Amino acid sequence: MTRVQQSSPHGPILHRLWLNGLAWSVLVWGGFGLHTAAAQDASSPSNEKRTEWFRNDKFGLFVHWGIYSVPAGEWKDRKDHAEWIMLTGNIPSAEYERFAPGFNPVKFDAKEWVQLAKDAGMKYLVITSKHHDGFCMYDSKLTEYDILQATPFGRDPMKELAAACNQAGLKFCFYYSVVDWHYSDFPAKYSQRGFHGNPNPNADLDKYVEYMKGQVRELLSNYGPIGIMWFDGGGSFNKQPMAELIHAQEIIDMIHKLQPMCIVNDRLGLPADYGTPEQRIPGQASKDLFEVCMTLNRHWGYNKNDQDWKSPETILCNLADIAGKGGNYLLNVGPTAEGTIPEGSVRTLREVGKWMKVNGESIYGTTASPFAKTPWGRCTAKSGKLYLHVFDWPTDGKLAVPGLRNKVTKAYLLAASDKPCTVTPGNAQVTVAVPQEMPDKIDTVVVLEIQGDPQVSSAQP
Ligand code: GLC
Repeated sequence: MTRVQQSSPHGPILHRLWLNGLAWSVLVWGGFGLHTAAAQDASSPSNEKRTEWFRNDKFGLFVHWGIYSVPAGEWKDRKDHAEWIMLTGNIPSAEYERFAPGFNPVKFDAKEWVQLAKDAGMKYLVITSKHHDGFCMYDSKLTEYDILQATPFGRDPMKELAAACNQAGLKFCFYYSVVDWHYSDFPAKYSQRGFHGNPNPNADLDKYVEYMKGQVRELLSNYGPIGIMWFDGGGSFNKQPMAELIHAQEIIDMIHKLQPMCIVNDRLGLPADYGTPEQRIPGQASKDLFEVCMTLNRHWGYNKNDQDWKSPETILCNLADIAGKGGNYLLNVGPTAEGTIPEGSVRTLREVGKWMKVNGESIYGTTASPFAKTPWGRCTAKSGKLYLHVFDWPTDGKLAVPGLRNKVTKAYLLAASDKPCTVTPGNAQVTVAVPQEMPDKIDTVVVLEIQGDPQVSSAQP
């Protein structure tokens, strides 16, 4: 892919965001787009109500944690594995199970993890209760293959995280894998690349579905209120009608019976409450609810050799881009087998938090941009307010807002709300006088207070 050279220092970020939208939408599979029709079924008042906090909160922490953090990405001659290591290393169950006794995360501190998320401005946490390897990171009575019975740890980290989240005011949510490479009744033919750690020719999917339902019941009964059940098939079921095969609607109905306010993502094969574009930002705003999930380096689970961390600049520009399209951002960390969050992710999250502390108002509770284009960055909106996220600062101190027809009653930098900026209305644009020097080198937010709902000329350049 050729890199377009941009004249401004912030040009490459805008360019990267654009590439994100374009290239990833072509390259990556994902549930996004599938959910349009059924999102309509889901637009009942209860769906509106259920997703109210989600639409408001915008930013969450994703955690991929399991016994795959013991090999830490290395197996035989390869170093690029992570949570898929059982499949990518072609490891039989009997051999993979041996990671469990080595998993003893004595440094795990639920309060510390939750505080890190909170300080980064995140409002919810989604953690792997069971990934594709089938290992249960919570106390399950339905299998011995869980953290309490198969590891020396002797604690249920999900209980501790649920309590810490409740205390800190974050919503606690579970990821749960539909595919299971370990459970004897999960048929290999439905798994990715037909893989199973111990394939069973008599595997009975219906029995597996009963197990899965039982586990979902446990998760929704033993950990207090759950914000989201975040299912993931991870490309399994090989184009078979997954929703029918696993009786997805029954699972959703059961969830709502147990916890009516629990949100369900779109990866049970049904659209449910929202779409989950993965590692890509949609090119345009959508009226359907969506949440972009993304890694902070190149892996979801812990890989000790991967130090390719995204910068705070990338994360914050992504966040403004996603919020400007009406979506949420779920950003991942992959903790170690000792129970710590890798330093590279901590560093980025701390910087993100500094910006959020000052500018969070321009993210939480906002809706998509009313503009088709904003040449200098992105825009988010709230009743009576537009938040202009300026990545590309005007060197002449004049920020042009093309196409805005509303009367602007007040303008100021979000970081200096007591210092109003002069606004000059014009025919095809509004111009805001801003300091010559860019105050926040990543994303300076300029607030426009406007009269009425945003009116943007369709002839906007
Ligand atoms: C991808 C990964 C999977 C991860 C998921 C999160 O599908 O393969 O391991 O859990 O993304 O969305």
